Amino acid sequence: MDRELFEVAVKARQNAYIPYSHFAVGAAVRAKDGRIFTGCNIENASYGLCNCAERCAIFAAVKEGVREFDALCVTADTPQPVSPCGACRQVMAEFHIPKVYLTNLKGDCKETTVEELLPYSFAL
Ligand code: THU
Repeated sequence: MDRELFEVAVKARQNAYIPYSHFAVGAAVRAKDGRIFTGCNIENASYGLCNCAERCAIFAAVKEGVREFDALCVTADTPQPVSPCGACRQVMAEFHIPKVYLTNLKGDCKETTVEELLPYSFAL
């Protein structure tokens, strides 16, 4: 468990915009240079436009020019550590995030890798 990344993800979760699902998710990703970027889920009345916390965090980093990552942590109020959706797994694969911490608010943590989450991922 990466305590710092977890705590930042928990804090980011507070900004989740979730009028439809009422399910708040927070994420934090650490760049290789040590900077941490955060994300929360942001929903929309047009449901298909909902954006997950993980992609929000990764895109926040990429838009600052970051391409190299160390680890990502995602968290939600779930009985087991929250598991990322397929779209977020594919985005994690795109940026080769080496370590992924799936957590819940209790602090349970499953440390995994993108390879484990999305074997045979699509790449060009
Ligand atoms: N959600 C995330 O933010 N990350 C995940 O890994 C799974 C799902 C969001 C999308 C939507 O706003 C809500 O959780 C319910 O699906």
